[in-house]
Amino acid sequence: MAFIYGRNDIPVKPVKNSQIAVLILAAGSGTRMESDLPKVLHPICGRPMLFHALRVASALKPAAIGIVIGHQADLVKKAAGGMFKDCAISKPPQFIVQKKLLGSGNAVLESLPFLKKFKSVVVLCADTPLISYESLYSLIQNHQAHNNLATLLSAKLLNPKGYGRVIRSPLGEVLKIVEETVATPKEAAVSEINSGSYIFEVSALIEGLKEIGAKGEKKEHFLTDILEILRSKGGRIAAHLTPNAEEALGVNTRVQLAAAERVMNRRILERLMLSGVTIKDPGSTHIDCDVDIARDAVIEPFVMISGKSKIGKKTRIGAFSKLSNVEIGPECEIEMSRLDSCRILEKSEIGPFSHIRPDSVVGPKARVGNFSEVKASRIGMGSKVSHLSYIGDADIGEEVNVGAGTITCNFDGKKKNQTVIETGAFVGSNVNLVAPVKVGRYARVAAGSTITENVPAKALAIARERQINKI
Ligand code: UD1
Ligand code: CA
Repeated sequence: MAFIYGRNDIPVKPVKNSQIAVLILAAGSGTRMESDLPKVLHPICGRPMLFHALRVASALKPAAIGIVIGHQADLVKKAAGGMFKDCAISKPPQFIVQKKLLGSGNAVLESLPFLKKFKSVVVLCADTPLISYESLYSLIQNHQAHNNLATLLSAKLLNPKGYGRVIRSPLGEVLKIVEETVATPKEAAVSEINSGSYIFEVSALIEGLKEIGAKGEKKEHFLTDILEILRSKGGRIAAHLTPNAEEALGVNTRVQLAAAERVMNRRILERLMLSGVTIKDPGSTHIDCDVDIARDAVIEPFVMISGKSKIGKKTRIGAFSKLSNVEIGPECEIEMSRLDSCRILEKSEIGPFSHIRPDSVVGPKARVGNFSEVKASRIGMGSKVSHLSYIGDADIGEEVNVGAGTITCNFDGKKKNQTVIETGAFVGSNVNLVAPVKVGRYARVAAGSTITENVPAKALAIARERQINKI
């Protein structure tokens, strides 16, 4: 008896994930991306598409995860290996190498030795990064509640171009999926599409896969053909229609990559706003998926925050700032600046037009101001580097004032050398500190000096030509 779409009189059984494996198809060559990088490694909101697939797979808490690799298999395998920890995957997934890229049906066929141990398998495409846990959960529930052999996640799209179409009988029963390349004009006009996510009974896969024939120019085995095959044997197949059509977006081209990026970014911004972050102009704000922002932070227009970044409570990120892999404490003010792999501690002020480079720690209550660059340096509590300075490989203590235009000359042509400026020191404007060099506690350095020797604590160093006034 075939399953009639929409029937809901069968009691829902709990998802028995202990018998379910997840198989992620990631072997395809991604020709339409026109890229040297394997398609599944193209990032969306800071993480490769494969990462998003692994994360949703892991959320289902399946008995095991398999990843089918093929095109640039070694590269994909290595990259995947680095993702498990952040996807909360404890048991390493199994890699299945698809020797010849003969289509999605062949990819699953090659995985049967792995799948045999399980009752059911959720098949995901690594190029469908927007699929949500909720949709997969309902898909599994629907499948189990109706004892289907195969259930696919479908969506209705205004523009179904490029996707497999779900063909139903007048009664609404799923008859088959027809790929666009082989669809008749009438079939191509159908707006319900196959998202590429499915759940199968493994026994049905074993039976059905044998019968899939080669199709199209590339003589590929379409996994989607299995639905018609199972149905012809009297098996129950169905489609679970997601109400959230954008989830089905598949990425085959850079145009679709950009569309997926836009959707995921919008989701991230909405999550942040609902958790108490003000985002003044979501349309011009780009925030990656691993960014954590605390309540009452304010993000102004044209801000980009990427990598693993953390922004503290009540901190304001001013317009046109670009931040990557930063940790910014509470109540900081970042004005139109570039910050990379650095830490800014509470109540510090940065910018406008500052560049804080990797391995720098600024603050608390410190200030790096207009047109100043800081690299691999510590700027201690309450210290100020307010104007036009370069601070590289320096350790600056507390309550230090660095005058406008001061430069740490850290590079001697061969190696980088350290500058130490101890607590309470006052460095006048336009000073060159030729490293390695140390300015002691509460010492002062006269404006315009070029300091090549250590300055003892509390001393006044003057290292410049005396002024001569000729009349
Ligand atoms: C596929 C579906 C289509 C669906 C669409 C959703 C088939 C035949 N078609 O089309 O019905 O609407 O996804 O986005 O499945 N892959 C392998 N080995 C291969 C070929 C592909 O692992 O030999 C993987 C790819 O890496 C990809 C997935 O299978 O993750 C789908 O392949 P792709 O070529 O992108 O299929 P579509 O044409 O998008
Ligand atoms: Ca695809």
